[in-house]
Amino acid sequence: MPNRANPLHQAKYALQHPGRVPAHLRRLTRDLRLRLSTRDHVSYYRAVMRSDAARSPEAAVGSKTHERWLALGQMQFDYLVDHGLKAGDRMLEIGCGNLRAGWRFIDHLDTGHYHGIDISPDILLAAQQTLVRQGLQDKLPNLALVDDLTFAFLPAGHFDVVHAHSVFSHSPVEVVDEALAHVGRILAPGGFFDFTFDRTEGSEHHVLWEDYYFRTETLLELARKHGLEGRFMDDWEQLPHKQSKIRVRQPLTH
Ligand SMILES: C[S@@+](CC[C@H](N)C(=O)[O-])C[C@H]1O[C@@H](n2cnc3c(N)ncnc32)[C@H](O)[C@@H]1O
Repeated sequence: MPNRANPLHQAKYALQHPGRVPAHLRRLTRDLRLRLSTRDHVSYYRAVMRSDAARSPEAAVGSKTHERWLALGQMQFDYLVDHGLKAGDRMLEIGCGNLRAGWRFIDHLDTGHYHGIDISPDILLAAQQTLVRQGLQDKLPNLALVDDLTFAFLPAGHFDVVHAHSVFSHSPVEVVDEALAHVGRILAPGGFFDFTFDRTEGSEHHVLWEDYYFRTETLLELARKHGLEGRFMDDWEQLPHKQSKIRVRQPLTH
């Protein structure tokens, strides 16, 4: 992946795709305005989601068409089921969005076993609409608004599976660090936390304040710092998705 923050790359890209320049400039102006009017990353990104979700909740979570929204949810679901998610598991989805994959997890899991958290009230309202559309009210999922990733209101040792798709790709390292520092407390014995991230092999960077690129080793080292073992999920790379995936869990004790 090229370094998207590099001015040379940006200039070359603009010359190759002149039609995309006006939209990028609009995004840049909007981002600057939101950045200047908010106090921290979470409130800034909440404002980004408010602005994006007002136009289209499906586009706000990254899908340009309904078909792509369905396909991206299906891909997350199939992968997680192939990699250990069982109907009896208790699951926490960080940054659940408008339940692109979440509605499939809710359908699959036992009643009351799905918890979704997000920083955006607007996308959580859209998540409720997805639930209604899919007729999943009886599955009693929990959807909660959060301000941080300390999981302080959730019980210890509870979740078999924690999942964050396309969340750390929008998060500075402090937010990732916070999640890794606290996820161990809420994981059930043998539980795991899967997350995707935008991977770079070069220097870590971000584009606007929206897209963050990390080296795999940085994230594995952060996990180690918090007593978790991390594993790069090689077979995720075969799927048609630009991000990479890591699974972390508590080390086995003998
Ligand atoms: C690209 S969307 C992906 C949503 C969902 N995971 C999916 O795959 O459809 C990113 C979501 O993460 C949420 N988000 C971003 N930063 C967050 C944070 N620090 N804590 C919780 N949610 C966050 C956003 O509000 C948004 O709903």
